[in-house]
Amino acid sequence: MTSTTIYLIAAARPNFMKVAPVYHALARADWCDPVIIHTGQHYDANMSDAFFEDLGMPKPGIHLGVGSGTHAEQTAGVMVAYERILMERPPAMTVVVGDVNSTMACTIAAKKLCLPVAHLEAGLRSRDWAMPEEINRMVTDAIADVLWTPSPDADENLLKEGVSPERISQVGNVMIDSYELLRPRIEKEKTYEAFGIEPGNYGAVTLHRPSNVDNRETLAMLVATLAGVARDLPLVFPLHPRTRKNLEQFGLMETLSSAPGMHMTEPMSYIRFMGLVREARIVITDSGGIQEETTYLGIPCLTLRDTTERPITISQGTNRLVLPETLAETAEKAVSGDWPRGSCPELWDGHTAARVAEDIARRLELS
Ligand code: UD1
Repeated sequence: MTSTTIYLIAAARPNFMKVAPVYHALARADWCDPVIIHTGQHYDANMSDAFFEDLGMPKPGIHLGVGSGTHAEQTAGVMVAYERILMERPPAMTVVVGDVNSTMACTIAAKKLCLPVAHLEAGLRSRDWAMPEEINRMVTDAIADVLWTPSPDADENLLKEGVSPERISQVGNVMIDSYELLRPRIEKEKTYEAFGIEPGNYGAVTLHRPSNVDNRETLAMLVATLAGVARDLPLVFPLHPRTRKNLEQFGLMETLSSAPGMHMTEPMSYIRFMGLVREARIVITDSGGIQEETTYLGIPCLTLRDTTERPITISQGTNRLVLPETLAETAEKAVSGDWPRGSCPELWDGHTAARVAEDIARRLELS
């Protein structure tokens, strides 16, 4: 049988743990030739290469090398570069994941050439149009052929938007596959040791959303609040490049890094970071994926946002939305153990990639 080529779009840090399990599942299938395409949206060693290594992915088959820029520059750069690949070597299917600019850009490029696209992590909606990711999600889901959803709320969103049920398959949360794949190594990783802190007695912090870090006043308030929390509970804060740049530009870096109990560090690889989260007492974040990983691990997650596209992490899990103004008191509550224990959503079971592979074979009539 000739192998069917599937392009898997990897672009930015949150994508890599979604692409890896699918790559591994497809690489095992004799009908399939999965090719990883890196758009270059994230390019630093610690935002990209470290993840490929941890997740056991080969070097990308194709690298588009697009890099940073304004939204239009980045989106257009990926569209132009990916269209060229599609015209030279059209695949049987393009698989896009998540909600970054590259997700939308590759979907548009492929669909304009009438080539099939499947979206993994479809149907999530924050209803916040100020988030670039919400636009990426809406555009991608409107035109992709196949929509793989992580939870029933996502199916409901799509059906309400008039999507026909044949396009939707609920497959579960693929990030849990990555965690399970690497669980033995994550459990051995004592990330906290490097900071001289005790397991179960620290918080992990990540911030990178424009709404939190691009405005001086908001970031200054967050810096002051986090410094207050760190006095009672040591905090480990791996800095995203956007956050580092803004802390420096707004003159806030010194205040934060000299705060007692605050441990600032470079972005961590997947295994080191999950090792950090797994032993944390609480997590403070504005990330999408970490809301889900903490629900899976049963760790209190304080999400510094006023909406979430992942409501199941609240209705069923350990996630709560907090405002900068209430962060300090909510953190105290979480540290004292006054927090729901939560439960794991259905199909967040480590077998999502296998369901994706089966669905591709069925839809391409290869099984
Ligand atoms: C992107 C995604 C966001 C995701 C986040 C995770 C979009 C719209 N946003 O946001 O959904 O949650 O990734 O990290 O797609 N930079 C580096 N090195 C890198 C990558 C970026 O220094 O390897 C710098 C860029 O030059 C830029 C800033 O970081 O100044 C932001 O990068 P960008 O990819 O534009 O957006 P993110 O904020 O990372």
